[in-house]
Amino acid sequence: MQEITQSQVIQALDEAAKQVYRNLPVFTYACQNHSSVHNFYPTCDNNQWTCGFWPGEVCLAFEHTQDPVLLHAAAILAESFLKRIQNKIEVDHHDMGFLYTPSCVSLYRLDGNQRARKAALMAADQLLTRFQEKGAFLQAWGTMGEKENYRYIIDCLMNLPLLYWASQQTGQSVYSDIAKQHTRTCLANSFREDGSTFHTFYMDPETGGPVRGETCQGYRFDSSWARGQAWAIYGLAISYRYTKDTSCLLQFEKASDYFLSRLPEDLVPYWDMIFTEGDEPRDSSSASIAACGFLEMADLVDGEQAEIYRSGAKRFLYSLYESYRVKNPEYSNGLVLHGTYSKQSPYNTCTPEGVDECVSWGDYFYMEALTRLKGGWVSYW
Ligand code: GLY
Repeated sequence: MQEITQSQVIQALDEAAKQVYRNLPVFTYACQNHSSVHNFYPTCDNNQWTCGFWPGEVCLAFEHTQDPVLLHAAAILAESFLKRIQNKIEVDHHDMGFLYTPSCVSLYRLDGNQRARKAALMAADQLLTRFQEKGAFLQAWGTMGEKENYRYIIDCLMNLPLLYWASQQTGQSVYSDIAKQHTRTCLANSFREDGSTFHTFYMDPETGGPVRGETCQGYRFDSSWARGQAWAIYGLAISYRYTKDTSCLLQFEKASDYFLSRLPEDLVPYWDMIFTEGDEPRDSSSASIAACGFLEMADLVDGEQAEIYRSGAKRFLYSLYESYRVKNPEYSNGLVLHGTYSKQSPYNTCTPEGVDECVSWGDYFYMEALTRLKGGWVSYW
């Protein structure tokens, strides 16, 4: 696979920004659903774990165009995130980072918006309430302490940057201490010897010891869900940036090697890495997330290794640009086709949703990876 060129990066960002403009009238006072339906996103209320990604696209479009209209739209969206956290609407789970980093930390970074900062700090406090001392982890879902919900999930690595940011903002180490404890628990349990990952991991509420790995959205308990593997790659790269802990770097290398070893020819994974050929749906969002992880790590290591990661990311991006991006707005109001949110299998427990559709985080991370390649981006994460 060839690398995306700089002029293709700019063209892809131009197209993405145009699609953002087209969507603004519908998605300024309403949120974008987690996934499209026949390639068109419906609106939704601000009550899903995914609502932060569309405002993140608006912020990235602003970075590309410098058009203040986009900042104005991002500020309107951020108000709804402030209202959500103040009124505690669907925030009893760990996804505060996915929600508030691309929607509010972003806007605060871009224009110092104080209401966005306030919302993001409140979200960080909310995330702290998910911490379980016994086992030292952030509980993903459900009532705190219930045995059947006493688990964390690999995705949570992407919620931790909100905590590191909150420590930087407030000067209080409680946020980063908890992020580091969660990372240590995750590194100790969630990775198999071959670098693949468990989606979810149960801990013992009495002893705090590790119990077992299971999947929710992957194919089988012993397979690796493609997006979970990508969350691990990007999450570890960011953890390494904040902590400089070499165990994050070492596990990043193993997780990346595993990811690369399970890709089909066009580098866009099937929804679970147990599949390497055939007709199963792809999850294009995993390729975008992994590309962001590779680009993050390329900035943190030296010389040849950095070049290998940068080149890998450019190859993912070329494939997405060439064969997966939306080329005609009459076909879709998203940016990237062929994502998979949750596919049911005989062995998993998920509700089927958004199979072979655009997914809002897939669009966001595609734009983020392109923005990184354009150069000069200051991370929201
Ligand atoms: N964090 C849930 C997902 O990636 O589907």
